[in-house]
Amino acid sequence: MNSKPIGVFDSGIGGLTVVRALTQRLPHENIVYFGDTARVPYGPKSPQVIREYAAQDVEFLISRDVKMIVIACNTVSGVALDVVMKHAKVPVVGVILPGADAAVAATRKRRIGVIGTIATVNSKAYSHAIRLLDKEAEVFSRACPLFVPLAEEGWTHHTVTGLVAKEYLFPFKLEKIDTLILGCTHYPILKDAIRTAVDESVTLIDSGEATAVEVERILDEKKLRNPSQLKPHLQFFVSDLPAKFSEIGERFLGQKMGRINKTGEFHL
Ligand code: DGL
Repeated sequence: MNSKPIGVFDSGIGGLTVVRALTQRLPHENIVYFGDTARVPYGPKSPQVIREYAAQDVEFLISRDVKMIVIACNTVSGVALDVVMKHAKVPVVGVILPGADAAVAATRKRRIGVIGTIATVNSKAYSHAIRLLDKEAEVFSRACPLFVPLAEEGWTHHTVTGLVAKEYLFPFKLEKIDTLILGCTHYPILKDAIRTAVDESVTLIDSGEATAVEVERILDEKKLRNPSQLKPHLQFFVSDLPAKFSEIGERFLGQKMGRINKTGEFHL
């Protein structure tokens, strides 16, 4: 059981930032990743459609016999956590609660910014999670939909990305936040542009890193850690364009990805 892989899914390539955090924290865990590259982005879609996609994504991972599921997608975590939990018979971790937790621990002025997709911001999942942890905290949320295609394009340090970041993020200066949650798996890829656009003193919270800590906690609690000390097996599946996924993905993941498998089971 313990050598079974952890299943991780996202709407596309951004979830590789969570895989990166997982491999750094848990270097011996086998991982199966699914990126729904045929249907990305999820963020501008309706909750009903996102919930339907999430159910199919989780079914795919279950068919790969995973011991745990990590929803490496803020949009799915915000809109369809219950759907994933219903379909999975294994422990499920989303990125919202760990991210909210890390932000509440980091803030000094209790003024927290959240950036994410339209669906994540509309779901208010981060604000609710933060307020549950600290009733007094003030939360300022903003959707930054253009960040997703910029990250998918690999434009991490492009002038256009800097301008877009400045335009989206300047209100946070007036709101005097001291902590900003990167509430979308794609955003850590644009960390440098985001840091330049907000005040340098603002703490950026990468939900992926916080999620890896929670995954480790659950593996220990459920005694599910892989005892092997060997190099783990990482498998990648996408619903479209494996070549593009591998070209950009290796930069996100920080290591070679090997073969990218294309699944043919998803309907648009
Ligand atoms: N993975 C999504 C998230 O973390 C962003 C990309 C999308 O809109 O599908 O919210």
